[in-house]
Amino acid sequence: MPHNTYILAIESSCDDTSAAVICNEKILSNIVANQEIHSQYGGVVPELASRAHQQNIVPVVQVALEKAAIKKEQLSAIAFTQGPGLMGSLLVGASFAKSMALALNIPLLAINHMQAHILAHFIDDANDHKPNFPFLCLTISGGHTQIVKVNDYFSMEVLGETIDDAVGEAYDKTAKILGLPYPGGPLVDTYAQKGKARFQFSKPKVKEHHFSFSGLKTAILYFIQKEVKENPNFIAENLEDICASVQQTIADILMDKIKKAVKATNIQRIAIAGGVSANSEIRKRLQQANKHWGWQTYIPKFEYTTDNAAMIAITAYHKYKQQLYSNQATTANPRLKVNS
Ligand code: KG4
Ligand code: ZN
Repeated sequence: MPHNTYILAIESSCDDTSAAVICNEKILSNIVANQEIHSQYGGVVPELASRAHQQNIVPVVQVALEKAAIKKEQLSAIAFTQGPGLMGSLLVGASFAKSMALALNIPLLAINHMQAHILAHFIDDANDHKPNFPFLCLTISGGHTQIVKVNDYFSMEVLGETIDDAVGEAYDKTAKILGLPYPGGPLVDTYAQKGKARFQFSKPKVKEHHFSFSGLKTAILYFIQKEVKENPNFIAENLEDICASVQQTIADILMDKIKKAVKATNIQRIAIAGGVSANSEIRKRLQQANKHWGWQTYIPKFEYTTDNAAMIAITAYHKYKQQLYSNQATTANPRLKVNS
């Protein structure tokens, strides 16, 4: 019988405190504590996020170990998110993981959050089949919008990325304009599913595989301001159709670029990752691409889309197998790139 590897992984890059335990490629527990505090401010407040991580981290880790029915003495390694993210938030997870690895005298693994979003596809129950290398991944979240060529677990190339706002930001800012609470992405998605895309927004012209979303946000703002001037109830009367129109525009932008990347690379294995990959329209478009164009598409389970420690754990498992350990001098890096 081969020896089982048990890893405790911690994710604290932004406003979710999460801990997961993995046994080889199988997730035994994945606990996420969302920080409600930010919704009243309409966005993540970094100082409040790090304080909440401090409060959450011990109980979250405890519950993750209990749910996995694993004693800390059984752990083979401890993993944490090194970056990118908010410095104060990252430091909480990094310090906790370092102390625990030191106390247990086991390897420490520093994990790249962006690689982890992508490698979530290798979790045992993420998919009925795992992608073969190379594949393309559209990583779409509150902080990032990238098309990545994934050559191997730790060999990734950015083919294109946003030159301004991330797609999640476009969703959240649209929601704010419409008076919806933060984070508004999931709400815009919910309303969009009941509406008709009957309003037009122009799409940005950005070269190659790059993206831009700040113009769309401004176009939506001006459109709403103009309509509300004529009819103060415009938003309430048309909320579902406005959301459907925005959602359709965003999905068109993303699919256009993915199609371009498929053409340029001749790779038809396409994955999506990150918080916005929970979006119903984007998931639907990928399923259609599978049906109509024969692409092999990889759509993650909902719990592995938004920030979670399970994705850190699977990435850690592959690092552990390659003995890519970190030492106690490793520091958090808020600007870590997917290809580093
Ligand atoms: O990956 P994530 O949890 O955090 C970052 O690393 O940024 O992504 C969060 C983002 C937020 O902008 C949120 O509004 C968006 O993902 N999001 C969605 C949906 N679910 C989450 N956007 C559109 N439709 C959704 N269903
Ligand atoms: Zn993320």
